[in-house]
Amino acid sequence: MSTLIQHGTVINADATLHADVLIEGESIARIAPNIPAENHTLIDATNLLVMPGGIDVHTHLDMPFGGTVSADDYETGTIAAAVGGTTTVIDFALQSIGSTMRAAYDTWREKSAGKAGIDYGLHMAVTDLGPGSGQQGLREMEEMVAEGISSFKLFMAYPNVLMIDDGLMLKVMQKAAQLNALCLVHAENGSVIDIVIAQMLAEGKTAPHYHALSRSTQAEAEATHRAIAIAEMAGASVYIVHLSNTDSLRELKHAQQRGVRALAETCTQYLVLSREEQMPGKSWDEAKFVFTPPLRSKSNHDPLWQALTDGSLCIVSTDHCPFRLADQKSLGRHDFTKIPNGGPGIENRLQILWHHGVNAGRLNPQQFVELCCTAPARIFGMPSKGAVSVGKDADILLWDPHADYTITAATQRMATDYNMFEGWQVRGNAKHVFSRGELVVKDGQWIGTTGRGKFLQREANAGGLT
Ligand code: URP
Ligand code: ZN
Ligand code: ZN
Repeated sequence: MSTLIQHGTVINADATLHADVLIEGESIARIAPNIPAENHTLIDATNLLVMPGGIDVHTHLDMPFGGTVSADDYETGTIAAAVGGTTTVIDFALQSIGSTMRAAYDTWREKSAGKAGIDYGLHMAVTDLGPGSGQQGLREMEEMVAEGISSFKLFMAYPNVLMIDDGLMLKVMQKAAQLNALCLVHAENGSVIDIVIAQMLAEGKTAPHYHALSRSTQAEAEATHRAIAIAEMAGASVYIVHLSNTDSLRELKHAQQRGVRALAETCTQYLVLSREEQMPGKSWDEAKFVFTPPLRSKSNHDPLWQALTDGSLCIVSTDHCPFRLADQKSLGRHDFTKIPNGGPGIENRLQILWHHGVNAGRLNPQQFVELCCTAPARIFGMPSKGAVSVGKDADILLWDPHADYTITAATQRMATDYNMFEGWQVRGNAKHVFSRGELVVKDGQWIGTTGRGKFLQREANAGGLT
């Protein structure tokens, strides 16, 4: 089976060229001008950009959280991703306190089995190293790396559910350093935030926007500093997830300037949504934007965009953690602490980044590819992904930079009853998408089969930093 993509413009992170792309089986076989049509299936990419499929390294599919389960499972979530131009996701397996990483691994492999429409990997969120000095948990980390889980997530927030203490963080990071694994950190000081929350509730402040007010930028910046310091002590590479504001960015940049192996992502929502605009404190509907870290003031947008071009932030992910407004977010109708934290975004990442990044002159197309496709593959140990290059998996996105599209929950594939960008008009959208050589999205419609996605065993490469 071979497909020839003709007359397109190939955009990689390091080069742009006018060339045809020949796919044979699951891989890219040849890239050159005017490849003969022979008897290949032909795809006309005139006026289209031929880019690597997007990689979203931060998603939460079918995840129990906040008294409910995230609304997208591996089927709906990966279809939504693909329709938006993403061909790989890395999701989180959560170890429960008192249980094992192996149990979490088995649970998440079961959740995904027969459902994923595109390829996917897993990070392991560590909450417990077991009894005594934690030898059992540390051995499990070795097993996880052998299974292809080369990144471990540590939560400094969500006390009594996911939060770990600094000692456990040090132990996990020391082991990760030995294993060449990458440590992901949700950096927010959960203990101080819990005190602020209790004070707010005591004053009767229960509306959704108090969620945002209860989680300060200082609480995020302090934890960012601490996580990086502990990683430095352990000799580990650290990756701060969902960095949302300039106070945290300052801590990151200080560490990077000293040569510390610290990386960070931001997420689509922190670049274009704000507390002033989405959460002014006027209505219950603001629960749509209750996620963690919360939306920040608009003044953070420009510095975050700037950090994407100066290299201090290396990836844009979504932290896709979808809950329906009507019957899930509503658990916290009278108490913001009961609103399940998270927002839907897996389908819209590339549209938003292209329109507000590339069309707005903040990013060029190659930087867009670097942030959304190539850096994720490199940092998370997926050498077969992330570039339109001979020998790589034929995960290819045919992007129409002139397509006008209105984002709306009415037509989305995500399983939520709202969209965070409802009514936004964007120019630039996914037209066709190949996943390992198979056309899975045609003219914006999913045509793939459920369950065709493969579990990716990722390499342990310390975030590509060694
Ligand atoms: O609000 C969020 N972000 N929910 C998902 C879990 C996390 O903290 O990433
Ligand atoms: Zn988080
Ligand atoms: Zn998350």
